[in-house]
Amino acid sequence: MKTQQQILSDVRWHDYSVSLEMRCKNMGQVGACVWFTGLSGSGKSTLANALDVALASMGKKTFLLDGDNLRRGLCSDLGMTESDRSENIRRAGAVAKLMVDSGLIVLGAFISPYERDRAMVRGLFSEAQFIEVYVATDLQVCERRDPKGLYSKARQGLISNFTGIDSAYEPPHKPELKIDTNVQSVETVVPKLLQLLKLRS
Ligand code: ADX
Repeated sequence: MKTQQQILSDVRWHDYSVSLEMRCKNMGQVGACVWFTGLSGSGKSTLANALDVALASMGKKTFLLDGDNLRRGLCSDLGMTESDRSENIRRAGAVAKLMVDSGLIVLGAFISPYERDRAMVRGLFSEAQFIEVYVATDLQVCERRDPKGLYSKARQGLISNFTGIDSAYEPPHKPELKIDTNVQSVETVVPKLLQLLKLRS
């Protein structure tokens, strides 16, 4: 039985005849990835969705990868242990990379609690292609919001490995943007994101 390493050494990268430049030219835009990280209930999906709407109304071609949604399909075999979360982010990053390579503007909304996993995703892209947004809403605020009732369940011991309760969240050191949705409104954040993408609304 071959190891994964041996199998990989037998696989060669297949060069595409259509370049990234040509794909982006046909798309009429430059692909990019905006990655939202933060606690559950911090506002990642809300912000990503608002940016998605703004971009779509400008005629941009986008796709929103949301943790909750991917966990119902591509990642439905994964749980919330440290290794499963890493695998979740590895898959999400790989999908985002393929989409950006096709010329799309990809928005990713994942707790992505571990620095090394986020660094791995960042490493898939060029500096110009990747924007990390830290949605730094306080745990207390997220817990008060508790939009899915999951914090309450975690406090009752009905859910384990819950981020912020009994599972760690490592804050990003150098995100391109840090937001507290308790202080900043969605309306003020979207223009900042468009600016980082070098787009005007
Ligand atoms: S990640 O940690 O692997 O990046 P991801 O963003 O895909 O997580 O999924 C998080 C979503 O799963 C949360 O928004 C929440 O709705 C749900 N969830 C279920 N169990 C947990 C848990 N133990 N910790 C955090 N979120 C959980």
